[in-house]
Amino acid sequence: PYPLYRELRSTPVLHEEEGGPYVISSYWDIEALLHDPRISSDAANLAAAGEDPLAGSEETGGLPPSFLRLDPPEHDRLRRIANSGFGPPHRPRRIDGMRGELREIVTALIDGFGDARRIDLVDRFAYPFPVTVICRLLGVPREDEPRFRAWVDPLVANLDPGMRQGGDGDFERTAREARMQLGMYLAGLVEERAKEPRDDLLSDLVNSRGPDGAMTMMEVLSTAVLLLIAGHETTVNLITNGMLTLLRHPPVLERLRHEPDLAPRLVEELLRYEPPVQLVPQRTCITDIEVRGVTIPKGSRIWLMLAAGNRDPERFADPDRFDPDREDVQHLGFGSGIHICFGAPLARLETQIALTELARRLENPRLVQDPPPYRENAVLRGPRHLEIDFDGLR
Ligand code: HEM
Repeated sequence: PYPLYRELRSTPVLHEEEGGPYVISSYWDIEALLHDPRISSDAANLAAAGEDPLAGSEETGGLPPSFLRLDPPEHDRLRRIANSGFGPPHRPRRIDGMRGELREIVTALIDGFGDARRIDLVDRFAYPFPVTVICRLLGVPREDEPRFRAWVDPLVANLDPGMRQGGDGDFERTAREARMQLGMYLAGLVEERAKEPRDDLLSDLVNSRGPDGAMTMMEVLSTAVLLLIAGHETTVNLITNGMLTLLRHPPVLERLRHEPDLAPRLVEELLRYEPPVQLVPQRTCITDIEVRGVTIPKGSRIWLMLAAGNRDPERFADPDRFDPDREDVQHLGFGSGIHICFGAPLARLETQIALTELARRLENPRLVQDPPPYRENAVLRGPRHLEIDFDGLR
């Protein structure tokens, strides 16, 4: 998509058809709009603009919108409550304290390659790792994963506006049904935690008390669905895009093997260079706004092309070069502003550990197919499979 993004940047505000979205692809414009209170994430505004079939209250599969799809003050209240479970006093302890546990999960997965000399990194590693982690964090039994994967998949496909438009009504109905099923499944677990709290995020969410009060049961369920999906599908792509990029840059892979301290900077550069979330299509403006001399009328849909902004030469020198030594790498890979990724500390740590251990343990890894087959989703970019040959485990 990167040549396309370059072309897009030559028209900073692209509006191709009446009623269509306004597509913004320059770094500074995206950054400004992500901080602009006139730009709304509210599900009801999105639904009114025809953007999100899961958005309107009748259409959400019985659950209210999560804080991803709300504006202040509701967004801030719910995010703060969720954060008090995810965060202080646990954060960064809860996340940073998981370092050893994360490394154990990674080691077990790599040991599990056994005598194989060819693996699909997605199936054997990049998918099971973050799923195991988010299940443990939330307190969802890992062995139920095949059940909820069937509900997560249609919801993720539904993120892509292109796939929705191409599909028929069944597609949307399936996604609504899936969200409801997932909510009902989680409701069982949440009820247990309300009676008997454990040391997990579901317990924290359902028993949250504080200056912001408590979440309603429905809010707990929306938040849990959001975290389960966000924790499922994005980190997979960052790990896979990361390994693919390293295999295309063997000197960097070799460096990481000897210099694990490179991992944090390397992961930031990856989030710039190959971000799993390529665009944020779920925004509308609640009043007329002007961007670069173009008036975007109230109620219009706005697409923020994060991955295009990340390669904007007005922001990053030599943007198409992968350079983990880049000094200034304030990328848009986690978004920006009030909706900036809630799971960023976890996603960073998971990916740093995953890539460092893969670099350390795989003997002479090589790509089988370049480019690999990609998943069909314009919002989430990552290989569907990533086959790797190697000479054994170290
Ligand atoms: C929001 C990317 C991992 C939870 C976001 C946004 C982006 C993003 C771009 C902003 C969306 C917007 O502005 O509309 C990523 C990437 C990840 C990742 C690239 C992995 C590499 C995670 C994980 C979790 C998570 C592991 C949960 C544990 C969330 C939540 C929000 C969010 C709850 C909504 C925040 C809000 O609306 O205030 N993420 N994410 N993410 N992310 Fe992530």
